[in-house]
Amino acid sequence: MWRTWLLLSVAGGSGERVVEPNSLLQATLRASDSPVQRIGPKETLGIVHIGKTGGSSLDSWLKGNIGRRHLLGHGIHCDMSYMDAQAKKQGHPVRVLSFLREPGTRAASQVLFWNTFKWPLFQKWKNWTLTEIMNEEKAFRRYHNAWGDGFGGVCWMAGTCVNGWYIHTEPNGKNDTEQLRRKELNEKHPQEVLAMAKANLERTAWFGILEDVERSIMLLQWQLGNNYTGFTEHNVNRNPHAKEVTEEDLQRMRKLIPLDMELYHYAQELFERRWAASGLSMPTDTPDRSAGVTGGHGVPLFPQRVPAAELQIESWIDSAASAEPPFPPGDDLLSDLVSGDDY
Ligand SMILES: *[C@@H]1O[C@H](CO)[C@@H](O)[C@H](O)[C@H]1NC(C)=O
Ligand SMILES: *[C@@H]1O[C@H](CO)[C@@H](O)[C@H](O)[C@H]1NC(C)=O
Ligand SMILES: *[C@@H]1O[C@H](CO)[C@@H](O)[C@H](O)[C@H]1NC(C)=O
Repeated sequence: MWRTWLLLSVAGGSGERVVEPNSLLQATLRASDSPVQRIGPKETLGIVHIGKTGGSSLDSWLKGNIGRRHLLGHGIHCDMSYMDAQAKKQGHPVRVLSFLREPGTRAASQVLFWNTFKWPLFQKWKNWTLTEIMNEEKAFRRYHNAWGDGFGGVCWMAGTCVNGWYIHTEPNGKNDTEQLRRKELNEKHPQEVLAMAKANLERTAWFGILEDVERSIMLLQWQLGNNYTGFTEHNVNRNPHAKEVTEEDLQRMRKLIPLDMELYHYAQELFERRWAASGLSMPTDTPDRSAGVTGGHGVPLFPQRVPAAELQIESWIDSAASAEPPFPPGDDLLSDLVSGDDY
């Protein structure tokens, strides 16, 4: 029996829209199949690089080992709608790879990362700590598109990231109709968007969890059927305040991004299923980080998991911020967002 993919009907002003996941992204997955599958040497891989999650490390690791020939999405940021479109254009499956990171830590990292650029709009707060930024409402709002709910995973996986911004989407480029469609989906139908993100996460060939990077890379190596080495964790967030993020900052942040938190929890569960299905085990001399994954600061993640039905999402584009040039950043600044990444 073929797995029936989630079909989402979203009622909207201009009639009914159906979001149908593209089966080419994982053409052969059946309900009876293992949740983890080998990746053949000739298959096309696609990288969905969620900002500040280790994607650049993955990018260069894959480029070094596999080469660019069978690699889509390297060197750019794109969401699943873009990958879907690439798979359709090519007419053959694209095996999607991605990294997820604990969303509170990711959001904190992204805010401080933006402060390493010369973007005029943010100069006023450039040397502030995250605590200071979060305590100043006007400032924190201005960084909304760095930390907003969805940018930590949900919009990328669902394929509903803001159209016409630095993340490649389909349709690509600025398109008011598409921008509005995505805005409405994200604001009015967060549950559907979350469900799409979860379904698409299942359709990835592989995803890693940054907090569990050893097992993540072991699993990818196993799936690729080789022993490529040299995956190094880059840590190039040059903002000196990155080390001053407090546990309180992170807890506050996590409360603001419940959808991303929910996707991350789901990803942890799915990762465990894939890991178990692979039959792999950690070498005994390596501490097993799977037990009690934390937010990176030794504190259990999001202890009170909010029931999915109660999750709400805020608008991802802060209209006050986006109305003022140069934000979203122009082409000359966009490269900042994809280079010098990670963590
Ligand atoms: C931030 O701090 C650096 C180093 O102390 C200083 O050179 C720079 O002028 C400061 N920038 C702003 C916008 O305050
Ligand atoms: C703009 O987006 C709409 C869907 O929202 C799509 O139907 C249309 O083809 C897009 N236009 C271009 C030029 O890509
Ligand atoms: C990968 O390394 C392991 C342990 O050294 C070895 O048992 C295995 O055969 C290697 N696999 C490949 C494909 O080289």
